[in-house]
Amino acid sequence: MERTVVQITLFGLLLSLASTLPNKDDWDIYSFHINSTVTSRYATTVITSRVANRMDESKEIEFHVRIPRNAFISKFRMFIDGQVYDGVVKAKEQAQQQYTEAVSRGESAGLVSSVGRTLEEFKTSVTVAAHKKVTFELTYEELMKRTHGKYELQIHARPMQPVSDFKVDVHIHEEAGISFINVKGGLSTKALANAITKTHIDKEAWVYFYPTVDQQKMCDSCSDQGMNGDLVIVYDVNRDNGLGHIKKSDGYFVHHFAPSDLPRIPKNVVFVIDQSGSMRGRKILQTRTALIHILNDLAEDDHFGLITFDGNIFHWKRELVQANSKNLESAKNFASNIQARGSTDINEAVLQGARMLNDHSREGSASILILLTDGDPTSGVTNLENIQSNVRQAIAGKFPLYCLGFGFDVDFKFLEKMSLQNNGVARRIYDDSDADLQLKGFYEEVATPLLTDVTMIYVGGTNLTQTNFSQYYNGSEIVVAGEITDNNIETFTPQVVAISSNRRIIFSNPNETVESTQTVSDDRIQRVWAYLTVKQLLDKELQLSGPEKEKVKKEALELSLKYSFVTPLTSMVVTKPLGETTDVLHKPKEGERSQTRPPSRGYSILRQPTGARRLRPDLPGFPNVHSFGHQVMQQHTPKGERGRPGPVGLPDGQPAVVHLSPDTTTLEAINAPVLHRFLLKAENQTVPLCFDVIGPVRLKLLHHPSRELSVNGELDSVTNGGFSRIFIHVSDSQHVEIDTNWVTVRDGQTVTYYTGQDHLTAGSVTVIVRNNEIDVATGDMRMVIIVHKKNGQKFLWPVLRQRPLDNNAEGLLAVEAAVYEEVQQAPVRKLKIKNQEADVTGEMVVDYSFTSPVTMNCWLMSADSALQRPLSQFVITQL
Ligand SMILES: *[C@@H]1O[C@H](CO)[C@@H](O)[C@H](O)[C@H]1NC(C)=O
Ligand SMILES: *[C@@H]1O[C@H](CO)[C@@H](O)[C@H](O)[C@H]1NC(C)=O
Ligand SMILES: *[C@@H]1O[C@H](CO)[C@@H](O)[C@H](O)[C@H]1NC(C)=O
Ligand SMILES: *[C@@H]1O[C@H](CO)[C@@H](O)[C@H](O)[C@H]1NC(C)=O
Ligand SMILES: *[C@@H]1O[C@H](CO)[C@@H](O)[C@H](O)[C@H]1NC(C)=O
Ligand SMILES: *[C@@H]1O[C@H](CO)[C@@H](O)[C@H](O)[C@H]1NC(C)=O
Repeated sequence: MERTVVQITLFGLLLSLASTLPNKDDWDIYSFHINSTVTSRYATTVITSRVANRMDESKEIEFHVRIPRNAFISKFRMFIDGQVYDGVVKAKEQAQQQYTEAVSRGESAGLVSSVGRTLEEFKTSVTVAAHKKVTFELTYEELMKRTHGKYELQIHARPMQPVSDFKVDVHIHEEAGISFINVKGGLSTKALANAITKTHIDKEAWVYFYPTVDQQKMCDSCSDQGMNGDLVIVYDVNRDNGLGHIKKSDGYFVHHFAPSDLPRIPKNVVFVIDQSGSMRGRKILQTRTALIHILNDLAEDDHFGLITFDGNIFHWKRELVQANSKNLESAKNFASNIQARGSTDINEAVLQGARMLNDHSREGSASILILLTDGDPTSGVTNLENIQSNVRQAIAGKFPLYCLGFGFDVDFKFLEKMSLQNNGVARRIYDDSDADLQLKGFYEEVATPLLTDVTMIYVGGTNLTQTNFSQYYNGSEIVVAGEITDNNIETFTPQVVAISSNRRIIFSNPNETVESTQTVSDDRIQRVWAYLTVKQLLDKELQLSGPEKEKVKKEALELSLKYSFVTPLTSMVVTKPLGETTDVLHKPKEGERSQTRPPSRGYSILRQPTGARRLRPDLPGFPNVHSFGHQVMQQHTPKGERGRPGPVGLPDGQPAVVHLSPDTTTLEAINAPVLHRFLLKAENQTVPLCFDVIGPVRLKLLHHPSRELSVNGELDSVTNGGFSRIFIHVSDSQHVEIDTNWVTVRDGQTVTYYTGQDHLTAGSVTVIVRNNEIDVATGDMRMVIIVHKKNGQKFLWPVLRQRPLDNNAEGLLAVEAAVYEEVQQAPVRKLKIKNQEADVTGEMVVDYSFTSPVTMNCWLMSADSALQRPLSQFVITQL
């Protein structure tokens, strides 16, 4: 398959490339290093990026990286011209106040967010003088979590350009000895595989990843803009099957407990499955698939129950039954017939599940309740607190409740709280093509209980993290950290008491093989303790209310500040050279309800500007843009009024209020038709043309009569960004349908849904689905559909990257660049296009043909004038 990305910059594409990535030519990342050190499963990673401004003028240089969501940033610094600028971690309220004050002074605020299952985005920028350099250095820390018998250290590399000095260094030191180590992830494939060196000697392992500039352009997810992907280091340590490993240093200890040579405990598991109307379609299909796989994996001595619910409750059997082949066949049959319909009675469903488990207590078994839902409770008891209290009473600490929130319509915080109150955890299931695998993956984590009622005891220890665990599963790990009272190692005695099947067992180590580390002092064990304590306090805070909640919050805040962790309670304030904005970086809370979906999980950057940030050429004729909050308001007057052509198709006399926000956004109509502003490049002119189209409307984007290929798009009726759906018709029977969430390929009767990273074909068309970009190629045509996000809403933007060579293509994307000259300035500015004159006004337009949109000036005119033909020629009725 042709994978080379040919970027041909044609002079006259509509929605075209105004330049390559913003600033790419202006500055150069000459060095990019990622250095990760892991000891006792605690990873400290430092990203160092060195950038030079090669221009004769000062430039704003951006530092933009992705880090694991479970990590806490602990340090950020910039080195500019011999000066060091340190980020300072402050209480969120305090930072927020700085920000709010800035906003109330009418200064702007930027907002950045990112999606990804495991990553968060960190972004900041600084202005660097001509021919000067800047070094960015970001440190983050995380405790590796063992699942499925391994740890995974995820390193995301996306320097935004090929970098001549690019290095990833990973050093792992585990006293217990490393049992295996592998390297996975998109960056470990193809040409890049040769750039990896792996060394493993007993307790130490090193992974070096030094790709050359050429290799950085050659991997699956790489392009001229360099690498974009993950390197995942997978490893595990040797196990002694006893008390596990205890590491001590400077008066703190961390205990890793993960025995695996125990017999499995038979389990009683009840699956409570939401089949409400919102599960319709792919979700219910995937749920059925996952359930059938899970049922296949049950052991004969397991007992199980299956409940589905909408507004009503459906039992497969009213009581738990043994997982013998007859029952499993019947259950699979039931599972494969689950249909989505109706409302959502979570309360009754969970209570029924709890009842089944309570009615069926078996000595020497482990009970587990699993709830899968994709929405809010809408029938029966709907008050969230009442549901939580009912569920807590029904379960009474006897078994854990795991809540799986499917997609982004769920109130994840509610599920999380309910799980934590019942010794479980909540997990998000991403509404993607692999959701069935996610469900199954979660089940496998809890599929093999080895111990119940685990109590970790530390005589001579204090300030301990959580010590009681209701169940321990094979492949996982229990981690406890704490202080050793008076740093007295002599009296410090760890012990674990637990129940294995019917036996009570005690793990202790009379020989005291506890490693007492290093002659050199190492504060890392203390940081592990702090990390774990803060995480657990944040979980606890979620479950509490009133003064207790405040107390726990205060404790978590104090520790976050002491250890300089950016947590949901703190923010990092990045002070910059004089006269520049101050960035305030907030870590978002997972599970925080967001009005939009998917929720933003990036660090939002709140800018507190003190100087002008964006340069606007002061061309005569551009309106004065007034600040209003952090948005900029402009009044559009309807068509017909002198000097101001209104948006196309806006009924005469109906005014539309249009918001233009300076940083990232464009038009936002309130209680008025939704406007979409298009950019039309102009030949030999720096200022492009622009015109407005009112949604919802369906437009012909590209039609190739000689090749049976047509691309149509539907402008959104709700958001103001761009297209909500784009359909590609390859032949009568083959169609690719793209919306903001997934790609659907229809080939005759076969319908396939894609999301995530996929490579698919329909007839002569190849479609590559990436994170926020869908590449469509056929013959000599190449098109990219970028998924943009604005105010939490996603929309699509098509860009023709390579125009078909034969010139008979039609459609909005095929319109040639405009050729205009200015014929009149004040009082009414006029341009001459071909032989027609048109009134124009200076406005702003966002060029969405890049993943990071660029805002620029444009000459606004009617669509008919800009396109040199009636817009109606592009309007179609059928997608
Ligand atoms: C990586 O960081 C560790 C710990 O800070 C340091 O000892 C080591 O020299 C660094 N490695 C590189 C290649 O910079
Ligand atoms: C637990 O996992 C280990 C490997 O990770 C395996 O050898 C062992 O058999 C498992 N125990 C049970 C009871 O399944
Ligand atoms: C640790 O425990 C001691 C008492 O055992 C207490 O005085 C101290 O404040 C605790 N430290 C922290 C950080 O909680
Ligand atoms: C932990 O479990 C032990 C024994 O089951 C119990 O005595 C103790 O109170 C529990 N501790 C907490 C914090 O729940
Ligand atoms: C303790 O030491 C004795 C003798 O050195 C040895 O036989 C035994 O296996 C050790 N026990 C543990 C749990 O390491
Ligand atoms: C644009 O500029 C190029 C080079 O200066 C020239 O060849 C071309 O004719 C110009 N096009 C128009 C429409 O003026």
